[in-house]
Amino acid sequence: MKISSNLIKITLALSLMASSLLASEINVYSHRHYDTDKILFKTFEQKTGITVNVVTAKAEELVSKLELEGANTPADILLTSDIGNLYEAKEKVLLQPISSKVLETNIPLHVRDSQNEWFGLTKRARIFVYNPQKINPNNLSDYLSLAKPEFKGKILTRTSTNAYNKSLLASIIANHGEEKATEFAKGLTENFARAPKGNDRDQISAVAAGDGDIAIVNTYYLGIMLNSKVERDVETAKSVKIFFPDQKGKGTHINISGAGVTKYAKNKENAIKLIEFLSSIEAQQMFAEANYEYPVNPSVKASGTVASWGEFKEDTLSLNEVGKYNKKAVEVATKAQWK
Ligand code: FE2
Repeated sequence: MKISSNLIKITLALSLMASSLLASEINVYSHRHYDTDKILFKTFEQKTGITVNVVTAKAEELVSKLELEGANTPADILLTSDIGNLYEAKEKVLLQPISSKVLETNIPLHVRDSQNEWFGLTKRARIFVYNPQKINPNNLSDYLSLAKPEFKGKILTRTSTNAYNKSLLASIIANHGEEKATEFAKGLTENFARAPKGNDRDQISAVAAGDGDIAIVNTYYLGIMLNSKVERDVETAKSVKIFFPDQKGKGTHINISGAGVTKYAKNKENAIKLIEFLSSIEAQQMFAEANYEYPVNPSVKASGTVASWGEFKEDTLSLNEVGKYNKKAVEVATKAQWK
């Protein structure tokens, strides 16, 4: 008799525990589709017992979804790459400010929102990749210099509607003003080796194939190719060299992957816990090793390949400024007829 009542008590306690564990969850809207993220979320689940549910789609779609769903959204976190989307989400009042000493310590000021509505989690530098047989690196300097007539027919990059190029151009507007930025965009477009097409990886391949001499790309694409299992990718990536632009000026433009807690998050405390975990040394090391991005946490070193490119001066312009000029960047690119 005694035993069976104890058994009932234990069973009850266990089912209560299970239901409270079930109730612990977070819903993430993510634009990132990397395997690392899946491993990071799993690690977090194992550490905390909080389940992480992920919905992936394009960043623009996720922002629209948040807007449409309003207070009924199931999403607690918006996770995207490129500052443009996070900035827009903030502008549309889809995020909320977070007070977290952990995040303020782990993430430097220029890669998080001044009102703590979004936080950078990884950094990528927008650099030049060049053909060392055709280009003397002494002739390379900043982004603006790519508009010089000496580079006619040599430049490769993707379209101006691409988020990375929009943010690069926005940073040039913020740093040098609209007039200089327009002049740059026109000169750059006139120097294109071909009409913009493909992604950053395609630009690197085009340099290696001799279709152009200098490409503007994000660092991690080169890192991925250098560590690829496909030998051709490795050879392609090894045949080009990397150059960090604007080292004597503002520094190389950087962009982020980042996250914010949604305005109507139902699991706000858990959401903060997850973002804090993603900024931790453990998670930052995983980010750095897996996708060849730069960690935001200054206590964590870049991966071997990335570190081999050397230290560089990064532009510490607040990414809020980059977000602010994203719309202007579209106007400037259109005026310059940059496809
Ligand atoms: Fe990318």
